[in-house]
Amino acid sequence: MNAFSFYNPVKLIFGKGQLSKLKDELSLYGKKVLIVYGGGSIKKNGLYEQVISILNEANMEVFELAGVEPNPRLSTAKKGAEICKKEGIEVILAVGGGSVIDCTKLIAAAAKYEGDPWDFVTKKAFPKEALPFGSILTLAATGSEMNAGSVITNEETQEKYGWGHPLVYPKFSILDPVNTYTVPLDQTVYGIVDMMSHMFEQYYNNASNTPVQDEMIEGVLRSVIEAAPKLIEDLENYELRETILFAGTLGLNGFLQMGYAGDWASHNIEHAVSAVYDIPHAGGLAIIFPRWMRHNVSVNPERFAKLATRVFHVNPEGKSVEEVAHEGIDRLAEFWASLNAPTNLEHYNIDESKIDLMVEKAMVNGEFGNFKKLNAEDTKAILTASL
Ligand code: NZQ
Ligand code: ZN
Repeated sequence: MNAFSFYNPVKLIFGKGQLSKLKDELSLYGKKVLIVYGGGSIKKNGLYEQVISILNEANMEVFELAGVEPNPRLSTAKKGAEICKKEGIEVILAVGGGSVIDCTKLIAAAAKYEGDPWDFVTKKAFPKEALPFGSILTLAATGSEMNAGSVITNEETQEKYGWGHPLVYPKFSILDPVNTYTVPLDQTVYGIVDMMSHMFEQYYNNASNTPVQDEMIEGVLRSVIEAAPKLIEDLENYELRETILFAGTLGLNGFLQMGYAGDWASHNIEHAVSAVYDIPHAGGLAIIFPRWMRHNVSVNPERFAKLATRVFHVNPEGKSVEEVAHEGIDRLAEFWASLNAPTNLEHYNIDESKIDLMVEKAMVNGEFGNFKKLNAEDTKAILTASL
């Protein structure tokens, strides 16, 4: 493995009924709170009311920013930061999925910054201070509830980039599987694809001697693959929601990435696609990841074959390493298709007309990917194979 330091200060509060901890956790940081949420799912399922009544009981002064978009926008984060500055907000509470939490991270940093918050995303500036915030997660997918990353779309320039800073780790995150019961079927599937993709991004690394990490990733992947088909038939099953929720957090809280750098090229390509077409993040990943795998299988066929046998139970007998590797990739693509995830960009009416623009956006910082560096030609080949 590579030498590494590990740090994760997020207090993870997991399980049924854990919303009861909200009052004590939030009170540590002040009385003036900004609640940030999305397009209204929390009003429909009753979570909003529960949160408000807890905050009222705690005599908190409550302000709101509603309407955070899936693929959260810079303009929305700016609105949130303005409220924080104007009202002297002391603590922020994100209630929603990854988009709401990501937007909150930028609000928290922007509230203490006089320049344009986009500077943080483009790394022209780095936060020196941020407001504290906590989250109540309602959708298992991104891991944003336990990491310091955030992905923001600048709708004016059609750019979507990830950024991160240790100052924007949530102080706490409350995860009750019951709060994910109402996630619709398609978003449930996207969440599963996203968390699996995070594990693949980490699995494809160039470090040697990583048996512990490999087992951890393979184990979490196997658990997700076992639970997912049952969950899509039984969306209010507590145990299945619990498994998937925990897997999503472990997928991207740093635990599985100790000792190496993951690849992350597929995410970079997907962000370029959703910057141009505003499609769901994991809808894009379901299409792009198997193509990235086929494009790169020759880099280290043994690694792909290991995934095939350990996670997808491919029988290697009488087959070459390459055959096993390809069979594993086919099984992954079939598995996602069996969950009804999209299989081609055509699903989103994306044709070749803007491929060059997407390539340009993916290449903005030059070649990318840690398992295998991709150039513009590679990116174009992967996108073309995804059409
Ligand atoms: O907006 P509302 O009304 O809340 O509805 C949301 C939204 O329409 C709905 N939803 C969420 N919880 C629900 C629910 N509907 C019913 N019941 C519930 N309990 O689901 C829709 C999607 O929500 P969103 O937050 O956009 O989904 P997700 O958690 O998948 O987040 C996607 C965003 O995260 C970024 C993606 O790029 C994308 O912008 N990512 C962030 C990462 C990170 N910070 O570490 C890593 C990821 O790779 C990813 O890039
Ligand atoms: Zn992702």
